[in-house]
Amino acid sequence: MPCSLIVGGFYGDEGKGKIASYLAVKDDVGIVARGGVGPNAGHTVFWRGKLYKMRMLPSGFVNPKCRLLIGPGVLVNPEVFLKETTLLKVENRVGIDFQCAIIERQHIDRDRASNYLKRKIATTGTGCGPCNVDRVGRTVKLAKDVPKLKRFLVDVPLEVNRAINDEKTVLIEGTQGTFLSLFHGTYPYVTSKDVTASSIAADIGVGPKSVSEVIVVFKAYVTRVGGGPLKGELIEEEAEKKGWAEVATVTGRKRRSAPFDFGLAKRAVMLNGATQIAITKLDILFPECKRVTSFKDLPRQAMEFIEKVETSTKTPVNMLGTGPSVEAIIDRR
Ligand code: IMP
Ligand code: MG
Repeated sequence: MPCSLIVGGFYGDEGKGKIASYLAVKDDVGIVARGGVGPNAGHTVFWRGKLYKMRMLPSGFVNPKCRLLIGPGVLVNPEVFLKETTLLKVENRVGIDFQCAIIERQHIDRDRASNYLKRKIATTGTGCGPCNVDRVGRTVKLAKDVPKLKRFLVDVPLEVNRAINDEKTVLIEGTQGTFLSLFHGTYPYVTSKDVTASSIAADIGVGPKSVSEVIVVFKAYVTRVGGGPLKGELIEEEAEKKGWAEVATVTGRKRRSAPFDFGLAKRAVMLNGATQIAITKLDILFPECKRVTSFKDLPRQAMEFIEKVETSTKTPVNMLGTGPSVEAIIDRR
């Protein structure tokens, strides 16, 4: 499969980072390109005993042969980008598109000083919303105007489309989740742009016909940070008991949680045109699944849950996360 696209099916934090890093290694991917909003994202990757929390770079960094690109639709915070690039020592294989919009201090200040954004919507405070406002107003600074980014600048759409035409394996990594989409989410409790599969592809400059697989990622339960509705939300003690009480990667806030939502899952498959489903944290829902790597070794209850997801969405569940590390996965493809 030359070009696959990974997208979040709920409210972000579904574990896209784990699935992307697994595929980057397993499928010998040549390029991982990141779409999505910007450094409001936090992708957690647990690789070879180390925990990485990535906000700008694609999670495919775990494969040392993988080229790492950031598409023109993504907002770049140069400090965050340079910090991650140095930390991972990927200077020689990372590229940003010339046309990425730049988040400046004033965007972060505007995000945090606004009562509406900070209190009501409860944004991540990373400046993404105000930066997208300036992009629409056509006043924003682009990556090509920033000297310290010069050595990383490339034409991402050209590089990615060439790779696809040469039948190299390309992975496109989305951020946030379907119901945080500005168009399809729980407005106004959403992020500052559409984040469904079509927009993620457009962030990179890849047309819909060039995408061969759309993988929607769900967690075995639903979490959400910030404001907005959450069907079946648990009280904090209940969430703690179940092990669903998570802490947000970017903001350190507590995530709200609820049981898996079959209605949302079905709609996410529709909105993204998903061809495959990945479900993470199966081991949190069914502890006997921990580190299981073969479907036949799953407990009956877990199998029934997977079958129910497949029947209600009419889409195959091809990957199952059974532990934090990149390798803890059941691959049924
Ligand atoms: P913003 O994207 O920072 O403007 O925040 C808008 C809403 O989206 C808030 O509810 C955030 O908590 C949420 N959000 C943005 N990015 C992510 C993410 O990567 N994971 C989970 N929630 C996010
Ligand atoms: Mg996250």
